[in-house]
Amino acid sequence: MDLFAKTLFLCLALALANGAPAHPQVSAAQDAAVPDRCAGIEFDAITPDENGITFFFKGPHLWKGYHGPAQLSNEFFKELDDIHHIGHVDAAFRMHNKENPDIHDHIYFFLDDKVFRYYNQTLEEGYPKEIQEEFPGVPTHLDAAVECPSGECTTDSVLFFKGHDVHVYDIATKTVKTKTWSHLPVCTSALRWLESHYCFHGHNFTRFNPVSGDVNGTYPKDARNYFMRCPNFGHGGGSKGSKCSEVKLSAITTDDTGKTYMFAGPIYMRLDTHRDGFHPFSITRAWKEMTNGVDAVFSYNNKNYLIKDDQVYIYKVAVPHVLVEGYPKTLKEELGIEGRVDAAFLCPSEHTVHIIQGQRMVDIDLTATPRVVTRDVPLPLSDIDAAHCGPDGVYIFKGSQYYHYESPMIMAMSKIAPVPQDITSEMMGCED
Ligand SMILES: *[C@@H]1O[C@H](CO)[C@@H](O)[C@H](O)[C@H]1NC(C)=O
Ligand SMILES: *[C@@H]1O[C@H](CO)[C@@H](O)[C@H](O)[C@H]1NC(C)=O
Ligand SMILES: *[C@@H]1O[C@H](CO)[C@@H](O)[C@H](O)[C@H]1NC(C)=O
Repeated sequence: MDLFAKTLFLCLALALANGAPAHPQVSAAQDAAVPDRCAGIEFDAITPDENGITFFFKGPHLWKGYHGPAQLSNEFFKELDDIHHIGHVDAAFRMHNKENPDIHDHIYFFLDDKVFRYYNQTLEEGYPKEIQEEFPGVPTHLDAAVECPSGECTTDSVLFFKGHDVHVYDIATKTVKTKTWSHLPVCTSALRWLESHYCFHGHNFTRFNPVSGDVNGTYPKDARNYFMRCPNFGHGGGSKGSKCSEVKLSAITTDDTGKTYMFAGPIYMRLDTHRDGFHPFSITRAWKEMTNGVDAVFSYNNKNYLIKDDQVYIYKVAVPHVLVEGYPKTLKEELGIEGRVDAAFLCPSEHTVHIIQGQRMVDIDLTATPRVVTRDVPLPLSDIDAAHCGPDGVYIFKGSQYYHYESPMIMAMSKIAPVPQDITSEMMGCED
């Protein structure tokens, strides 16, 4: 069983465990002031940090990530308490502003009329400041705040919540537009996670469109089923707990919109959104026809080509992933080859796909109809799991290691394999 399958089963096991619950009540009895998030609480603020770790705040406490006990927040962000003695934060968010590296990924906390800015768990010089000074037009005593990058909002923005009002702050122009979203519950905290926006209220959350405020789908949902790991609740995100030495990919690709998908057994994971942590999902959640996993995948001309056994499934690059009419087709029909495909890759702006089958690499020109193999070379490696080509060359994945080549040409000409390197937690979110 590979890493991601294990994680899934761990989550399922947690979800299905129906024995005696763990006893958070015991520790709560020992120290009545320590809150238990699995008991169903309302958070004051939620924000990820620059490493993609999500912090949940309640009173003077915080939780770091999706599991683990409450800790005192002044152990991490000491000035929050030392200066203010207020015992809670009103709101927090992580700045998204790539044009300005001095503030991108820094986190902001709001207490009454003050704002605190942290990076690397260190309060920055000049803080705390008056909210008015840093965010003119934004009210004091906020309920919640959340980043909204350009693409999701019209420009890089921050949404500040107070009651049913949302103050949309444009970071570049420092201007505020106020909207009233009466249909949305009053958010006591808000979080952007994997390009979606969530309003937290009570122990529930509601996903909303950050521009229109529209709520689509069945909400509210119980946060304990999604954003934390609680006994007797559904899986709580996070792919931690498995070792990098146990990783085994099935396929990997980057599509034309820059999304990088990694497949392993029944699971896929986005690698380009690592700012929000690494989160495995079942492949069928996104590609419903791929019920038996994926052998190889490559992206070409706004389409993702998913290969399983002798079938090629072509999906348009768009969410949701819609299978192109007439597919799947056989490998022979689509690519003019036969036999099991171990891995496939295409370099940015090229038209030749490189298909790895056992110890051979065959090149196929995707502009030619019918398809013909333009090159067929032996490789010094066997049992390859997955391959990826990006601006810095070709990565060949085999078990928990990878081989790096500067180009497919150099790879095709190599008689000996380069020294393998270990897959790291930064690459795949596993544990070293
Ligand atoms: C982060 O803070 C720690 C301790 O304060 C310091 O040792 C480290 O150099 C800092 N890292 C960066 C990247 O600033
Ligand atoms: C949470 O949502 C459920 C419905 O899913 C609702 O019955 C309950 O009242 C909500 N609780 C809070 C505190 O928002
Ligand atoms: C809302 O969900 C429905 C059904 O999933 C979908 O057809 C529609 O496009 C969605 N609307 C928005 C604004 O996301």
